[in-house]
Amino acid sequence: MQPSADSLQIGNYIGALLQWRELQSSYDAYFSVVDLHAITVAQDPAELREKTRRTAAQYIAAGIEPSLSTLYVQSHVRAHAELAWILSTITGFGEAGRMTQFKDKSSRYGADSTSVGLFTYPVLMAADILLYQTDVVPVGDDQKQHVELTRDLAERFNSRFGETFTVPMPVIQKETARIYDLQNPTSKMSKSAESDAGVLWMLDDPAKSAKKVMRAVTDNEGSVRFDRENKPGVSNLLTIYAALTGRQVAAIEDEYAGRGYGDFKKGLAEVVVNEFEPVRARALELLDDPAELDRILAENAARADAVADATLSDVYDRVGL
Ligand code: ADP
Ligand code: NA
Repeated sequence: MQPSADSLQIGNYIGALLQWRELQSSYDAYFSVVDLHAITVAQDPAELREKTRRTAAQYIAAGIEPSLSTLYVQSHVRAHAELAWILSTITGFGEAGRMTQFKDKSSRYGADSTSVGLFTYPVLMAADILLYQTDVVPVGDDQKQHVELTRDLAERFNSRFGETFTVPMPVIQKETARIYDLQNPTSKMSKSAESDAGVLWMLDDPAKSAKKVMRAVTDNEGSVRFDRENKPGVSNLLTIYAALTGRQVAAIEDEYAGRGYGDFKKGLAEVVVNEFEPVRARALELLDDPAELDRILAENAARADAVADATLSDVYDRVGL
């Protein structure tokens, strides 16, 4: 994830962290906070450094175990930037220009506010993946095109210079719950939303989150029933409830049948508080002990560095550098 806010939001937790937590015991997993990606748009240096540490602390607090996974800050491993340069020399200009995420973002920012780094972002992402001889990349639909580019680059490099990279497979994550803004339940909850009235922050005081749940937009029907089309607000709350408790939506509907939204929201507020109280406490504890957090990140970066450096040395050799 990019370190683009002081706190992650519960969509990041449900849509990403919970899945990653599952993967870490069966895979040799690498998770990073991608600060090099973040600087493709302007960042305040001190804020960037702070957001990076906070994001890492929240990964750990949410259950990404530095002993089961390699959890590091992208810029701590220099090989990312170096491999990205080499890969950029075998990437077609037209090929990079076809990336839909770039087309979307650059048309929003305008040509003069679009950096070359934003254009080559997918090449850096390819380096992120290929450095670790990665077999599988769990991604959402929106990142599939970037993983396809990564595969093309790996195959191209291998055929030009000899077998060097594992060609990774994208694994489109099992339909993960998509969480919507509590005040605007047809748009995705996001840490970069313009207003945070409908955003549940992982690091917020639980009482504040409970209040936001109580104020969530619903409808006039008064029945707790999942209907994404006609009842987006209630459906979103049901999705959050189910994701955090591991219960089926139908069972939650049954529990609240004949009861009003007030009761339902109170129930959900309790679920949210119970889930995030310990996560928040752990994150704050890590942030209160910067030396310990830095030690964990340095140790993990060293582990990542050893693997990445072996790949990069091989690449330099083969290219003639
Ligand atoms: P944000 O919009 O909060 O900045 P990102 O686009 O950086 O989030 O996504 C980081 C991770 O969190 C991705 O794996 C993404 O799929 C997941 N994610 C982000 N928002 C949501 C959401 N509202 N519901 C489910 N998953 C989400
Ligand atoms: Na593991």
